[in-house]
Amino acid sequence: MYSVHLRGRVALVTGAGRGIGRALAHGFADASATVAVNDIDLETANLTASLGHGELNVYAADVADPDAVQRMVDAIMNDFGRIDILVNNAGVEPTAPILEMTIDEWQQTLNVNLSAAFYTSQAVGRVMREAGRGVIVNIASIAGHNIPLKDRSAYVASKAGLVGFTRECAREFAAYGIRVNAICPGVIETEMTSHRRGDALQMQKWLADIPMGRLGVPDDVVGLALFLCSDGARYLTGQAINLDGGKVML
Ligand SMILES: NC(=O)c1ccc[n+]([C@@H]2O[C@H](COP(=O)([O-])OP(=O)(O)OC[C@H]3O[C@@H](n4cnc5c(N)ncnc54)[C@H](O)[C@@H]3O)[C@@H](O)[C@H]2O)c1
Repeated sequence: MYSVHLRGRVALVTGAGRGIGRALAHGFADASATVAVNDIDLETANLTASLGHGELNVYAADVADPDAVQRMVDAIMNDFGRIDILVNNAGVEPTAPILEMTIDEWQQTLNVNLSAAFYTSQAVGRVMREAGRGVIVNIASIAGHNIPLKDRSAYVASKAGLVGFTRECAREFAAYGIRVNAICPGVIETEMTSHRRGDALQMQKWLADIPMGRLGVPDDVVGLALFLCSDGARYLTGQAINLDGGKVML
């Protein structure tokens, strides 16, 4: 489908049990990469691996747990001896006004959406530094660019943090031959947005704001991710690119 070829490269995609992560895992496998499919949910990760074509291997782990992340990275290195691509995609999106949100919800959102990217970037970054090359793609959100979302303070804060972390990571890792960028999707049709897509008024509001006149689908994210991981993007780092049908134009 795309003309990017990643034969010989090993790509780790977190949160790949469904949605955008599953599409990315399948896209990387279609581009001939060896894919490490991570999810906290072993069953859905297995489903992603079994539904794809190519080499997809499951590594179930909670990316919000730094020890589990290190064990996963060690296991992938033990199996393949390299990690060339890291996609930080795992995410959660609790909905509650600030005055109602629990401390647990806040901390879990920051842990999964932001701290996990630090844990994986550190563990995989050490491997990539040794190799002298690598690419990291963080799946942030247009919410990371000061786009307010009702009742999603933890989510917006985590994604803004992820955009900031992407830039600092790019700055530090450039010396090691590692590029780091973020993709900032608009509304994509996945489980994460399914409850709100059932609301006709919400849909009308969303669509009125999108020049291309439709929501995104997980496959819409694949082409940009492949490009960012390809040699064609060799001079591109530290960017947070909106992928939203034209909703946000900076
Ligand atoms: N769907 C959208 O509209 C949209 C828009 C912008 C950004 N995003 C981002 O894209 C990413 C994927 O979103 P999606 O819509 O596919 O969501 P989703 O809820 O459909 O899938 C998220 C996946 O992450 C996994 N996961 C959650 N916590 C985990 C953990 N601790 N360790 C490992 N895996 C974990 C889940 O099990 C699930 O398979 C998220 O980071 C999300 O914030 C989504």
